Amino acid sequence: MTGIGTAEWVMARCDDLTRHSSRFDALERVYLSPEHAAANMAVRTWMLDAGLDTETDAAGNIWGRRAADGRPQRPGTEGEPALVLGSHLDTVPDAGRYDGMLGVVLAIAVAHRLRDVTLPFALEVVGFSDEEGTRFGKALLGSCAASGQWDPAWWDQADADGVTLREAFARFGLAPERVGDAARRPEDLVGYLEAHIEQGPVLESENLPLGYVTSIAGARRFVLTITGEARHAGGTPFARRRDALVAAAHLVTRIEELAKAADCLATVGDLHVQPGAVNVIPGRAELTLDLRGRTDAGRDALWDQIAAAGQRIAAARGVTFEVSETHRAPSTTCADRMTAAVAAGIAEATGTPSDTGAAGAAAPSDTVRGLWSPAGHDGMAMDAVTDVGMLFLRCRDGISHHPDEHVETADVGVALDAYTAAVLALARAHPGVEPAPLAESVETLGEKAR
Ligand code: GLV
Ligand code: MN
Ligand code: MN
Repeated sequence: MTGIGTAEWVMARCDDLTRHSSRFDALERVYLSPEHAAANMAVRTWMLDAGLDTETDAAGNIWGRRAADGRPQRPGTEGEPALVLGSHLDTVPDAGRYDGMLGVVLAIAVAHRLRDVTLPFALEVVGFSDEEGTRFGKALLGSCAASGQWDPAWWDQADADGVTLREAFARFGLAPERVGDAARRPEDLVGYLEAHIEQGPVLESENLPLGYVTSIAGARRFVLTITGEARHAGGTPFARRRDALVAAAHLVTRIEELAKAADCLATVGDLHVQPGAVNVIPGRAELTLDLRGRTDAGRDALWDQIAAAGQRIAAARGVTFEVSETHRAPSTTCADRMTAAVAAGIAEATGTPSDTGAAGAAAPSDTVRGLWSPAGHDGMAMDAVTDVGMLFLRCRDGISHHPDEHVETADVGVALDAYTAAVLALARAHPGVEPAPLAESVETLGEKAR
């Protein structure tokens, strides 16, 4: 097998994880499923190979840990505060193989590269169990548990088969009453550093392999229900119809107009119509709505407009309009010291001139590309307990949440160097640390991995 710390190893492990899918024809792995358990098992093995001890927490997140001196150490045991690297292992339906998984596997590879280096903090790797919210509508469940933000109101949210989150916990072998045990304390953490594909076109259009993230957009998700009346498609003149789908169609186009005008993003990604027969007027339409904005205030103002438009359209068409919010996460600004380390790492790995220097200075480099993330990430939850930073990798055609998701092995190689260098920059900038013992170069660590 190719060495753990190499780009080829990372790409091969992302391929391996596609086996753990609930579908033969596509990749889909949701929270608390048998595939989630299988992916955790695979990741656990790789963590052990990389010199980490492992533990699955009370919310199904998989953790690996080594002490500052490099010894494997059980996560959850007393020890030095830890820098956490990682991402998520769950997927959307018909997913690509890199969204989330690449960040977990890269983190393991970085931990392996650093296995012989004494750091001023412990190093942990996490594979979060639910970032997408595919199964229960609420996203970031894994990282909300890890950041102590679990809301008991979520227990009764059900999946498409009517299985509640509480029941799914028990079926997975987790005790709902223990979910609080997954919460990490701020004093035990040094920061959370995640690598992720960009999921957008910016880096590719500028011919850059990597960038650092400045902030992550706040998101809200809703289920919108329009109720009219199901009737005969032949016997009911237009004047007598209360067609839920036509009302929904008007609302969908209005949502797009309003979002464009507000410079926000709004997506109706799912639509269910009942009773769903060719010769019956739709009596009920259920739509999902995903809203994102650079600022929470802009996004919330857009929601107020959409809610008002829904009421107006409903009144005009003799149907009712109801709303249920399934997810809300605030926008998140990456911490200066984390972005400085990521920018320094990118500068070092790409040979870009940088004023941040190898020791990691207080401000991000202005020669390395910084960009905001309209896509959501586990850092949105982890921000409640520690400083967050992110490294973005270019992905082909900016495509994500699609099986065509693709990253180049060469970019993964540069990302490995940059990610490793970012950890070393944080180590050198850590209070009371002399840079000398951390002088080992990223190049040498990369060579050793081969
Ligand atoms: C996660 O990928 C999200 O932004 O929806
Ligand atoms: Mn995603
Ligand atoms: Mn993701």
